[in-house]
Amino acid sequence: MAILGINAYHGDASAAAVVDGRLVAAAEEERFTRVKHAAGFPSDALRYVYQAAQTSWNDVQCLAVARDSYANMWAKARNAVRLPKLLARRVGVQSRFASIGKAVEDAVGSAKPIPVERVEHHRAHLASAFYVSPFDEAAVISIDGLGDFSSAMWGVGRGNRIFPFGAVNFPHSLGIYYTALTQYLGFPKWGDEYKVMGLASYGEPEMLEEFRRMVIAPNGGRMDFELCPDYFVHHNSVPQMAWGDGEPMLGRLYSRYLEQRLGKAREPHEPIEDRHKAIAASLQRRLEEVMLDRLRQLRKVSGVNKLCLAGGVAFNCVANGKILKETGFDELFVPPAAGDAGLAMGAAMYLWHQMLGNPRDFVMDHAYWGPEFTGSQIAQAINGVRDELSRQRCDVFRIDDEEALCRFAASEIADGNIVGWFQGRMEWGPRALGNRSILADPRRCEMRDILNSKIKRREPFRPFAPSILEERAGEYFEYSRPSPFMLMACAVRPEKRSIISATTHVDGTGRVQTVNIAQNRLYYRLIKSFDELTGVPVILNTSFNENEPVVLCPEEALDCFLRTKMDLLVMGGYVIKRTVETQVPNSD
Ligand SMILES: [Fe+2]
Repeated sequence: MAILGINAYHGDASAAAVVDGRLVAAAEEERFTRVKHAAGFPSDALRYVYQAAQTSWNDVQCLAVARDSYANMWAKARNAVRLPKLLARRVGVQSRFASIGKAVEDAVGSAKPIPVERVEHHRAHLASAFYVSPFDEAAVISIDGLGDFSSAMWGVGRGNRIFPFGAVNFPHSLGIYYTALTQYLGFPKWGDEYKVMGLASYGEPEMLEEFRRMVIAPNGGRMDFELCPDYFVHHNSVPQMAWGDGEPMLGRLYSRYLEQRLGKAREPHEPIEDRHKAIAASLQRRLEEVMLDRLRQLRKVSGVNKLCLAGGVAFNCVANGKILKETGFDELFVPPAAGDAGLAMGAAMYLWHQMLGNPRDFVMDHAYWGPEFTGSQIAQAINGVRDELSRQRCDVFRIDDEEALCRFAASEIADGNIVGWFQGRMEWGPRALGNRSILADPRRCEMRDILNSKIKRREPFRPFAPSILEERAGEYFEYSRPSPFMLMACAVRPEKRSIISATTHVDGTGRVQTVNIAQNRLYYRLIKSFDELTGVPVILNTSFNENEPVVLCPEEALDCFLRTKMDLLVMGGYVIKRTVETQVPNSD
């Protein structure tokens, strides 16, 4: 039985195909439309997963939609009556969801109607973690901005059932808290929170007391928390929102009172001062205090020592890195698409297990669920830009032997070259994990500045992540468990910090990705080759993009290569190498 899952008309629109309880394909719409966090209807992602599932319309027996208008209905209604503008918005959204089955049929070209099942937002988040985790039993928690009127939900998963036993509802939300302060700090775009998380390491939490007044969450024995309304506006006005086909947009969430307390908000073009770093650090520390204390409580009330975590706040890898040390849980699973994109898969899994009662036999042990391209498609894309490649003095050649390809790329990286690495199926979730990656030498401290200024063209304070052979993780990090999805910041062992200086953040941590041969044979062999050359089993890994969604296809990889100062591009067995440093226009 095939189930299509969908997250539509919401940030990070996406689609997933689950066949007989196993995920077969999943992708975010942004990769196809090239609009970051695209929030409309995921037509392209849907067409891709439908085709990748190699199913026919007759095999598709249900569409699982990650939204349930009936969830928290009375609370939604009360709020809508209080804020008439909100009522109008709800009616508009509702009418789009009413015809979602027809929109799906149109997208994949079928005249046959398909039954639609709705799954509440946080249940889909919980399902996206628990049902694909390796755990038979686990405590489960979802923490995000807001979805179906809740911002957090927790419970226990056992076998093929999830038993939620608590939630926090609008307007209280750790996600909204973090987003509001991210806006205040001059990062207004949807999904900018991770930038502030990186900035937080540069400051001291000098304003923690103020932030403790902002998020009211007594320690010990409580799961709930509240936002102090004085600091925010979302509870008594309707922030501007854009959920169309373009990039999602959210109006200002912080109040004038917050500015009175913390000082004037930073404009995006203004310099980042020590004050901003201290605010980011205080924001992050308070999030960790509240989150870790709730998790300690969840550990107690659930009586289970394994944890599954999802929701947008689960991307806070700094907080995640403290969970096993500070909350009593022994094992943690966070799926690669922990945010709203993951809802598509979560809804489909929820339908298969919770609603239809089917047993589990699938564990998500890698994140490569997106499109892939053949050698001839890659060759065709290269032929399409032959003139530009010769103008920029690039050699094009092939290395068909996998071992030789890895040895060649590893030696180029060790020589200080920056390599675009495009292989196999695209990653599901925001992190590039070795199939759509830009790779560099982690031993060269200057790589951080070179990558930030010349390739990625982004803020200088943002760190780069290390990919390490799984079996060697304990040598370099004070953490030796698998971390395949790059969702945990771990302390780098003090004696190794200067060795992998380009991937060690200012606070001495690295957002580590462990790689084993079963997950990604080629990437594993590349890192292994680098280790054989240098004695360091680590490669710097950043996503293959430049202020755009991660590249999907060979044409986009070539385009990114040609407009940046990357030294090499390796796509399948094809190698494109600059022979001289070209005068590529720099938008700095
Ligand atoms: Fe969410």
